[in-house]
Formats: sequence, structure tokens, C-alpha cells
Amino acid sequence: MPALAPAVDSELAADVLADLVRSGQKELPSRWLYDQLGSALFDAITLLPEYGLTRADARLLKANAEAIAAALPGPFAIAELGSGSGIKTKWILEAFARRGPTNYFPIDVSGTALESCSLTLRSIPGVRLTEVHATYLDGLAQALEQRSAGQRMLVLFLGSTIGNFDFPAARGFLSQLRALLSPGDALLLGADLVKPLSQMLEGYDDPTGVTAAFNLNVLARINRELGADFDLRQFQHQACFDSDESRIEMHLRARSAQIVNVAAIDRQIRFEAGESIWTESSYKFRRTEILDLAQAAGFETRAQWVDDEWPFAETLLTVRERAK
Ligand SMILES: C[S@@+](CC[C@H](N)C(=O)[O-])C[C@H]1O[C@@H](n2cnc3c(N)ncnc32)[C@H](O)[C@@H]1O
Repeated sequence: MPALAPAVDSELAADVLADLVRSGQKELPSRWLYDQLGSALFDAITLLPEYGLTRADARLLKANAEAIAAALPGPFAIAELGSGSGIKTKWILEAFARRGPTNYFPIDVSGTALESCSLTLRSIPGVRLTEVHATYLDGLAQALEQRSAGQRMLVLFLGSTIGNFDFPAARGFLSQLRALLSPGDALLLGADLVKPLSQMLEGYDDPTGVTAAFNLNVLARINRELGADFDLRQFQHQACFDSDESRIEMHLRARSAQIVNVAAIDRQIRFEAGESIWTESSYKFRRTEILDLAQAAGFETRAQWVDDEWPFAETLLTVRERAK
């Protein structure tokens, strides 16, 4: 059995215990995909010809950054949920920094992602970058505490990461997000739209196998951090589309019946041949669904832009005044 990693991540151990060591559908929250290697593999995915999502998001941000800044007058701080490497954010930061010094808080659970975000964006003139190594809402609460008096907050949630939540959870998440914000604050939400099935599936199962490596790496992570003995060659990456739920699901399917030991929690995980671990969901939206979600959570739509080449929507929302 491999040696235990020196620092056991207790939250990962708790999720493995709750979601893998059980009968029924095994699952892992998608945040565990993003360790050092996982974040690097995600960056590689964004370059794949089959994964048009990031390029569509980038085109919309580049084309509309000035309009977004113009729609939000006055001093703003900017916080980004799950910033990743932040490459696409530069146009927004440049547009705000042109009119005055701008505090930017990238928030991510991946230290690697934050490091590369900082390298990419800290040299933009007028931008003061503060890394926040935290989960989305804890990180936003920290960023809100640090903004200067009189500043409003623009929250960026790009790359269709909202699609990792199922619909009720997305509604709940946006409501919690809204509750942290004040009238005048804003949210820029990127969401991938429904498109032809083959295009959606190829985006999550590319022929070069980069997405498969990204998915399988979560098992390697559990080996490294929790002293488990997953044999990665005994699992197969799979992507499928659930049309009732309008979501791509990523799974890791056991090629054979097997028992995996997890030293850090002193447990065994039993797999039947063909049984899967569900590692990520990516919901595909209709434009009106985004508006309905936002409206239900207490946001008002200011604008929505859709890419011409790859159906993807960028929606600018502001916090609605509470009913008196
Ligand atoms: C799909 S990637 C998107 C990255 C970037 N925003 C983009 O559009 O390319 C999701 C990012 O969110 C981070 N992440 C995942 N779950 C998180 C959580 N619960 N709290 C904070 N960050 C999280 C990951 O580490 C990753 O960098």
C-alpha cells in the first residue's frame, strides 16, 4: 500500500467516507478534481478543439467588458468564484481599472489555480489582487469584509461552473450568494447552453484523452492524499447526457469487480464490475432558465449576451432591492 501523504485532508476523507464507502450510486463532489495536476489538466481541456466553452466565454468577455463596466458606474471591487487561472478575466479587470484602482479577489479551492491566476493578472496596471484560498461563499464573505468603504462588489462566476450544481442546488446557491450581497452589487454569470448532442458529448470525452486523465486523476489524488490503492487502469472515463435533467455527467466506471483500500479512513470500497463513481455534472441551460434562476434568487437582469459560434450566455445581473 502507498505511504500516507503527510497531511490528510479531512474534508476529502469525510467525502470519501460519506459518498464512496456505500451501496447505491457512488459520488464525489467535483471540487476534488482540482489538485495541482487536476488544475493543470483543466487548463489543457480549455485548449481542446472539442471544448469550445472557454473560447466562447472569452469572446463574450472581450467584446463586452466595456459595456459591463459602463453598466456598473462607481467604485467596484471584483470577486471571482472558482477563478481557475483567470485568463479570461483580464478584459473585465482592464475595463474597471481604466477608471480607477480596482481590488480583485480570485477565490478558489485550488492553490495551483490561484498561483497561476496571480501570475497572469497581478501586473495589470491599477489592479490590486488578493488571493482567497477558500470555497465559493466562504471566500466571498472574506472578500466582502476586505472591500473598502463605499465600494460595491461585482461577483464573477464564469466558465459555466454554475452547471456543476443541479437545478435546486443552483437556485439555493444563488440565493445564498444574493443574501451576502447588497443592493447595487452585481453578478456576471457565464452559462453554457443546450446544443447538439454530439457537440456536448465530445466536449467531455475528447479523442486525445485529456478529459479522461482529468477525471481519473481524482482517484490518483485519493491514493496520494488518503493512502488508497485505486488501480487507475481498472477504471474507465465515461461522459453521458441525461436529457431529462439536461446535464452531462462524468463517471469513472469499474472495469472489473474489485476492492480498494483507503488507509486514512481504514475502510474498503467494494466495486461490482460496471459500477461507477459520478464525479461531475455540467448542466446545459436554456437562456430563459438562467433568467428564471436569477430572478428566483433575487437578482434583476441587466443584459445577456450569447456567442455566435458556440451557444453560451453571459448574463449581467444586479441585486434587486428588497420589497419594502
Ligand atoms: C470549471 S473550473 C472553471 C475555472 C474558470 N472560472 C474558467 O471559467 O475557466 C472550476 C474552478 O472552480 C474551482 N472550484 C471547484 N469547486 C470549488 C468550490 N467549492 N469552491 C471554490 N472553488 C471551487 C476549481 O478549483 C476550478 O479552478
